Amino acid sequence: MPTAPVVLPGTCSPLAAVGSAALVDTPGAGSFLVARTAPDSFTALTATCTHFGCTISGYESQTFVCPCHGSRFSTSGSVQKGPASRPLRSYATPFANNVLTITL
Ligand code: FES
Repeated sequence: MPTAPVVLPGTCSPLAAVGSAALVDTPGAGSFLVARTAPDSFTALTATCTHFGCTISGYESQTFVCPCHGSRFSTSGSVQKGPASRPLRSYATPFANNVLTITL
C-alpha cells in the first residue's frame, strides 16, 4: 500500500500543538488536510471539497472551511455545514518516531 511520509512534527511545525491543522502538499500524492487530534494522533483528509472540487484551505474552531461556498467539515471529514453533502475521504495516519505517514 503506498504511503506518503509528509510531516516531522517538531516544535516549529504548524502541527506541533494538539488542535492544530495544516494543508500539507506531498510530492506526487496531492494535498491533504492534516489535524492533530491528540499528542500521538492525527487525521488526514483529502483537501478537495466534495461540493465542486475547490481546495479546502481554511481552519477555524476545529473545523475545515472551503473558501468557495463555505462548506465546513470536521477533522474526521464529516459535513458540518453545506452546501457539500458528502464527507471528505480520510486516510490512515500512523505516527512513529516523530514521523507522520499518510497511508493512501
Ligand atoms: S466547492 Fe467547496 S463549498 Fe463549494
